[in-house]
Amino acid sequence: MTLIRDLTDDEARAALVLKWGTVEPGVIPAWVAEMDYAVAEPVGAALRDAVERGEVGYPAFVRAGGPIGEAYAGFARRHFGTDVPADRVLPTADVTVGVRVALEVLSERAPMVLPLPAYDPQHGLAQVTGREQWDLPVDPDGDSYVVDLDALDRLFARGARTLLLTQPHNPGGHVHTRAELEGIRDVVTRHGGRVVSDEIHGPLVLPGAEHVSYLSLEGTADHAVAVVAASKAFNIPGLKCAQIVTGDDATRDRLVAIPMAQNDSWGSLGVVASVAAYDEGDAWLADLVERLDQQRALLGRLLAEHLPEARMRQLEATYLAWLDLRAYGHDDPAAVILRGGVQVSPGESYWPGLPRHVRLNIATSPDRLTEIVGRMAAALTGAP
Ligand SMILES: Cc1ncc(COP(=O)(O)O)c(C=O)c1O
Repeated sequence: MTLIRDLTDDEARAALVLKWGTVEPGVIPAWVAEMDYAVAEPVGAALRDAVERGEVGYPAFVRAGGPIGEAYAGFARRHFGTDVPADRVLPTADVTVGVRVALEVLSERAPMVLPLPAYDPQHGLAQVTGREQWDLPVDPDGDSYVVDLDALDRLFARGARTLLLTQPHNPGGHVHTRAELEGIRDVVTRHGGRVVSDEIHGPLVLPGAEHVSYLSLEGTADHAVAVVAASKAFNIPGLKCAQIVTGDDATRDRLVAIPMAQNDSWGSLGVVASVAAYDEGDAWLADLVERLDQQRALLGRLLAEHLPEARMRQLEATYLAWLDLRAYGHDDPAAVILRGGVQVSPGESYWPGLPRHVRLNIATSPDRLTEIVGRMAAALTGAP
């Protein structure tokens, strides 16, 4: 018996006020990265208890370690086999804030490299931290999302100082292998650069791949942080709690010393829910990964049957499929698909200037996914 419970349409509309609440009636939302599943029972129970006892004030203002540090350390040990000292884990409001704080505090005011496609809010991070963004596109015709090391090397040689790495990747679905990460590390260390590694999707690696935290590689502790959260895997992003993982005491101390106003916005219910997720969520997470693996297989079958010209690179993690729809000839396929009754995310949000791609969220029920692909196919091909 699976622990994953599909939300009905009415439940989803009530629960997921962004994903479901902002689309027209009759449209199936398959866009923002939220899942159409009920909250994991241990997380729901911890939240209900916290509200019951009135724990809705400020969280205990622990700059590093504390319950969230302990909980993440245990989770990382069990799931990734890494030894993360609890006192090197710092709370922050969300992953986007954690990346911003790391850039502001640790990185030189010099260009940041952003591999493309990239999660849309990442496109604003260089700008708001007062530096240029230098794009590093992956080959749109290639088979993988592997970072081009020669191009990375050239960007660092020209003056880039930080790489914003997202691994596992959204929207690419790629899980970087140890060898790929070592290649990146070698380029970065050759130039004395830094890495901010957004690892929010780490718990969502699907069978066949393995999450390797960038910080677990030798020689990365002094130039990198990882930004992690329970929010994506456990579908609780509205609760505002993420973690910055530092590799050495010096980096941790630099982050602990910043003014309170720069990093004080995580929420107490976020801490409660994240600790419950990390400590008690393993069984639910295992069932979730199994469901997402099934959804991935179903998507493969549905695309083969209904949209055989769609190109999808292997989805190794997450529930976000990056689809190349160039063969169908629509400049704005997301708009065409919306007219057909499904909201997907336009590819240009992740790669400005790259038309004819969309990101499809498959974290829903098999029935809905079947309906989604059927509607997409009818819209894109004009079939009845
Ligand atoms: C790669 C990546 N980073 C960050 C986020 C957002 O995280 P948060 O809501 O904690 O800022 C997402 C959300 O989907 C994401 O895919």
